[in-house]
Amino acid sequence: MYQVYPRSFADGNGDGEGDLPGLLAHLPYLADLGVDGLWISPWFPSPLADGGYDVSDFCDIHPMFGTLADADAVLREAHARGLRVIIDLVPNHTSDQHPWFRAALAAGPGSPERRRYFFRDGRGPDGDEPPNNWISAFGGSAWARVTEPDGRPGQWYLHLFAPEQPDLDWTEPAVLYDFDDVLRFWFDRGVDGLRIDAAPAMAKKLGLPDADYGGVAEFRTVDWHDNPHWDVEEVHDIFRRWRAIADTYDGDRAFVAEAVVSTPARLVRYLRPDEMHTAFNFPYLKSPWDAAALREVIDATLASFEPIGVPSTWVLTSHDEIRPVTRYGRPTTSSFFITDGEGEESDLALGTRRARAAALLMLALPGGAYIYQGEELGLPHVDDLPDEVLQDPMFLRSGGALRGRDGCRVPLPWSGSSPPFGFSPDGVLPWLPQPASWADLTVEAESGDESSTLSLYRAALRLRRGTDGLLGAPLVWRESAEEVLDFERAGALRCVVNLGDRPVDLGGSDVLLSSLPLVEGRLPVDGAAWVRPSDPVPASGG
Ligand code: NOJ
Repeated sequence: MYQVYPRSFADGNGDGEGDLPGLLAHLPYLADLGVDGLWISPWFPSPLADGGYDVSDFCDIHPMFGTLADADAVLREAHARGLRVIIDLVPNHTSDQHPWFRAALAAGPGSPERRRYFFRDGRGPDGDEPPNNWISAFGGSAWARVTEPDGRPGQWYLHLFAPEQPDLDWTEPAVLYDFDDVLRFWFDRGVDGLRIDAAPAMAKKLGLPDADYGGVAEFRTVDWHDNPHWDVEEVHDIFRRWRAIADTYDGDRAFVAEAVVSTPARLVRYLRPDEMHTAFNFPYLKSPWDAAALREVIDATLASFEPIGVPSTWVLTSHDEIRPVTRYGRPTTSSFFITDGEGEESDLALGTRRARAAALLMLALPGGAYIYQGEELGLPHVDDLPDEVLQDPMFLRSGGALRGRDGCRVPLPWSGSSPPFGFSPDGVLPWLPQPASWADLTVEAESGDESSTLSLYRAALRLRRGTDGLLGAPLVWRESAEEVLDFERAGALRCVVNLGDRPVDLGGSDVLLSSLPLVEGRLPVDGAAWVRPSDPVPASGG
């Protein structure tokens, strides 16, 4: 699956912002790349307080991106090219500009309109303290106080993300029923699935008790057990209801959970047969560039997914993360949080070698893989965007202490030798400035270069599709040096990744694809290769 962040993919109407006509025009590129489908980040009307994850109408298209007719055209053309389309549903919260929230503000305390959200009186004698100690993912309290229609300071509302993203109360029947209609609206239009944003946030413990963050007031949800606003049991009732709706449709309609929870055991609860179909593999995404750590997370993933018959997924990055080329070139190669490694110098040549190897590793693993736009070009993170162009609420809410995620959302370079690199017509400045150094990383430049990262992704995807017996073939580890990952997809493909400090002898194997040129038949450090599997498999385990 290929993740499209529509604002930064391609500008079809020449206003410096990506849009659906731009996406439509580049569908041949995606089909040619060899992916099976797209996940499109939110395309709904939105004030863009959080990059479109603040939705003001769940059943329409942002005018900046186009119209519903454009969305229909994208679905039709994608399907005609054999590409599935998953869209991004953001059900935990709305925009503060959504008519539901505006009505709730206007209707005042105690009104039915306010029951769609979490409006509560404040604590303290004047009600001027937040109702509880919950924190926002973007820093500070998760509560904001409103001014009531009579002009006085009034109730507080809950926002686990930005204040412009008030949380919906999913115990309110109107919320439940309205979203049934949202699901049907998009399934009827032909979308193949939905990515569920912030899935574990959707249920809250009754009474909204204070949370115990163990002394660390940071939104590190993997550390949270029995938290009153994350991974609360009742959330599963919603997904059962949605699965029942999806199952009434023809074809394969799939849900993908965005669920960063404490353990694999908690994650697989979202994937029970009557809930969602797959989930993003965040432990894999966050793993450092280290053989033991990667092997551990691969084994743990397979051990939790295989018994329940759910395909594993693998992902290196997204619109929320440091781009791999930059991350793997820094001393801190894990990405537990977007801020990990922030400010560290990155050796981009090293990072690029590793990111290419990481791509071959990911694409050799059993299950689905997610590629984030620009990853296939080996784009680095843009960490020197000027402050005045940054738009991420993380930057704004932290008073500038955190740079936020804009650096992975810089518009794609398509062609030419200077900005806007074919993203927009010449002379139009894209909404975030592209580095001049991207001239060698355009689709055009990389298409003509067999050694480019784009050519590597294309070749890998082609081979992945064209290899008989690969789909469903189990992973079997081979004996290897400690810092080498070496496994077979039984009988179909062997993958060797060299995370050590000396070249690896491939023993004269038939090399199908390599992320770096071999030196005298040996795989260099930070390289990965796909080779024809031997028969029988020499060692097993894992
Ligand atoms: C996860 C999305 O990927 C991220 O971009 C967004 O800020 C939050 N959810 C809130 O919707």
